[in-house]
Amino acid sequence: MKISVVGTGYVGLVSGVCLAEKGHQVTCVDIDPAKVEQINQGIPPIYEAGLEALLRKNIGHGLQATTDLRSAVMESELSLIAVGTPFDGQHIDLKYIKAVAEQIGTVLRQKDHYHVVVVKSTVVPGTTDDVVLPILEAASGKKAGESFGVGMNPEFLKEGEAIADFMNPDRIVYGGIDAKTNGVLQEMYSVFSDVDQLATNCKTAEMIKYTANSLLATMISFSNEIGNLCTAVGGIDVVEVMQGVHLDKRLSPILADGRRITPAFTTYLEAGCGFGGSCFPKDVKALVAYGAQRSSPMQILDAVLQVNADQPERMVTLLKKHFPELSGLKIALLGLAFKPGTDDIRESPSIPVAQALLDAGAVVQAFDPIASQEASHVLSGDRITFCPDLSQTLNGVDAVLLMTRWAEFAEIPSLLAGLEQPPLVIDGRRMLPKHSVPRYEGIGL
Ligand SMILES: NC(=O)c1ccc[n+]([C@@H]2O[C@H](COP(=O)([O-])OP(=O)(O)OC[C@H]3O[C@@H](n4cnc5c(N)ncnc54)[C@H](O)[C@@H]3O)[C@@H](O)[C@H]2O)c1
Repeated sequence: MKISVVGTGYVGLVSGVCLAEKGHQVTCVDIDPAKVEQINQGIPPIYEAGLEALLRKNIGHGLQATTDLRSAVMESELSLIAVGTPFDGQHIDLKYIKAVAEQIGTVLRQKDHYHVVVVKSTVVPGTTDDVVLPILEAASGKKAGESFGVGMNPEFLKEGEAIADFMNPDRIVYGGIDAKTNGVLQEMYSVFSDVDQLATNCKTAEMIKYTANSLLATMISFSNEIGNLCTAVGGIDVVEVMQGVHLDKRLSPILADGRRITPAFTTYLEAGCGFGGSCFPKDVKALVAYGAQRSSPMQILDAVLQVNADQPERMVTLLKKHFPELSGLKIALLGLAFKPGTDDIRESPSIPVAQALLDAGAVVQAFDPIASQEASHVLSGDRITFCPDLSQTLNGVDAVLLMTRWAEFAEIPSLLAGLEQPPLVIDGRRMLPKHSVPRYEGIGL
């Protein structure tokens, strides 16, 4: 099938590359000519494990990138819209979606063949039917359902595991304005066998995405609130508490042979320094605002956001418990990406923590296996340096703040072993055994 993907960020590029790998003819479109050039050279503008290899394999062979939206739409049967939908403080900002819908509609005015336009970006319920469809009709001068179809197909990939998630999805959800649109989407996804597919209407597809992300964010903030209570009470470790909770067979089922399954779901029931990224914070905020505008206050999700907003600051509070004066203190800040496996620093808890440390006069040695360059665009000054490796970052510091669960940070105990004056380690992800370093603090301890 010939597909155009508009927007080549995390979702658009991964979708484009993977759909090409699955045998479709894909044209990726972006307004950023530098990104388009990089993609055509086989260089991904973002980091995702496996992306570069798959891009290099497919570029020029069923996959191309362009800034020319017109020819991409003219020459394809289906367009996926995968541009950003940031939260502007009041609601999701649809300016990129609207601009692309307008551009695609203008092309459809000149196109003789039936075309399907699908929103892949995360948008609040009603956006596809009430915003995108009318723009397409006005710009094309044609009627949806006759000359073109309109659908919504939320994306569930996780940054850091995006390629694996897209190639082996746990579900495919799409909603169309009519059976013909859903038929085209079904055809696009026919290359994915053995996966549960849910065909519905646009609004339901939109709501499924928000509900899925909100549930996971709720589990994280719930665990963090329990962790904070453990800290306040004393003598209770949230890690042990959650181990006890996970042993519920409804969370970790027991197989006939007695072995337990530990679903990935339980990793969201662990305390830490808060969730970040381009999705959870923005999507929960958007749903809270959406509910308020429809006189259906989202009280639980309101609390989820409040707990999360305070969580990074708790790292600084733990530090101040040991070092009341931060000025001149030398600190290793480990992990800048919002989670391991990605260079995405959007809404990463590390950023406000770094800022708070710098504001208090501390000297920060920061390290992230891949996100340092991204972070250097938002964190600067003569008291922050970005170190090339973990052992150099730990050199001569008073305290270590572990912010991201990168696997290599498991080496911290061996790197600190034998030091005469070992630094305090504050574990924001509770990934190190608490007795593995001489001076240990952690969220929920
Ligand atoms: N990042 C994720 O993990 C993830 C997962 C699921 C869903 N989503 C959703 O997918 C959407 C895209 O997210 P993202 O992280 O990929 O965004 P992103 O910001 O990484 O990428 C958006 C891309 O769209 C391009 N763009 C903007 N306007 C354009 C236009 N008029 N024509 C062509 N290209 C244009 C930008 O240059 C950019 O490359 C959002 O709604 C997001 O909520 C993201």
